[in-house]
Amino acid sequence: MVLKLLKVFFSNIHDRLFVFISKQRVFEYFLILRTYFLDLFNYKNVFNEINSQIEMGIQLPKSIEIETINRCNGLCSFCPINKNLDERDLTIMDENLFKKILSQLKEINYSGNIGLYSNNEPFLDKRIVRFIKMAKEALPNAYHFLFTNGTILTLENFVDVMDYLDLLIIDNYNDDLEMIAPVKKIYDYCLEHNEYQKKVEIDLRLQNQILFSRGGEAKNRKRFNRMKSSCVTPFNQMVIRPSGEVSLCCNDALGKMTLGNLNNESFLDVWYGEKYTKIREKFHQQKYARENLELCKNCDGAPLTSDNLFSFPEKEDIVKKWK
Ligand SMILES: C[S@@+](CC[C@H](N)C(=O)[O-])C[C@H]1O[C@@H](n2cnc3c(N)ncnc32)[C@H](O)[C@@H]1O
Ligand code: SF4
Ligand code: SF4
Repeated sequence: MVLKLLKVFFSNIHDRLFVFISKQRVFEYFLILRTYFLDLFNYKNVFNEINSQIEMGIQLPKSIEIETINRCNGLCSFCPINKNLDERDLTIMDENLFKKILSQLKEINYSGNIGLYSNNEPFLDKRIVRFIKMAKEALPNAYHFLFTNGTILTLENFVDVMDYLDLLIIDNYNDDLEMIAPVKKIYDYCLEHNEYQKKVEIDLRLQNQILFSRGGEAKNRKRFNRMKSSCVTPFNQMVIRPSGEVSLCCNDALGKMTLGNLNNESFLDVWYGEKYTKIREKFHQQKYARENLELCKNCDGAPLTSDNLFSFPEKEDIVKKWK
């Protein structure tokens, strides 16, 4: 009992401390320090992964994000596409294009991670549950995941979509770290139906926080460390926009660097095409390749290596968070 109380006390302190330092600019210096060490120590790992991928031949992406609508209703100050900042023209993916992409992935029996979201709020697209069902049916061996801010997620949609998802991450943004009403409904439902607990993660997050620079596009980031080390993300991730355009990576929130278009090129033609190849060659051959790439030189996100960010938590570990 005493141990339990102490645990709650300290976990609370941790949260409150986090709120305090992240509301202060102090957290920015913490991030600068973090990327400085990441640059220093991660350099070798990233380079080794790039080398081995080049030697083995480029594999299929380990993770694919398909954004079916390029809008969000959120107001996160760290996010370049929050509803007050978004400068993109509203685009909704044509259903035929979505089906075409799925059938191309089915043909190659894609079995990596796939999420029908990217720089958006996926539930703004009324078709999203149906699209996720189609994706699960076409790609039964893939790992289907989704991030949402939970603001417009109804219990009905939640129950429907969980039939097809392996993992749902609900980012509950609130500066007092309190659960917003629609998320609380889902939380309570999961407490009563614990079969969902192994597939649902609810993260209490701050809406106003200093986070990564997002390729220099995060408007609340004043200072950041310009990382020098290489990046392996374009070897591992593909981000598809509603227009069919393929963006450099998820840090290219506004889709400023396009590597192909799935309306007129096939999935494999883009992934193995000239633009991707050139970027990968730069990261392989040039010691300071980031310096010559507009977004990359302002990016302080950790490169998405195949064995860290793309391995999602085991079911048992997700369940533990509910305890
Ligand atoms: C772009 S959101 C899209 C899905 C949904 N709207 C949400 O917020 O969960 C996906 C993830 O990117 C994160 N993100 C957005 N801007 C970021 C930044 N500047 N640094 C780090 N993560 C960021 C969000 O917090 C979220 O976990
Ligand atoms: S982090 Fe998610 S919820 Fe917040 S503004 Fe960005 S896309 Fe929207
Ligand atoms: S350095 Fe950053 S912006 Fe450039 S490819 Fe890597 S993750 Fe994306």
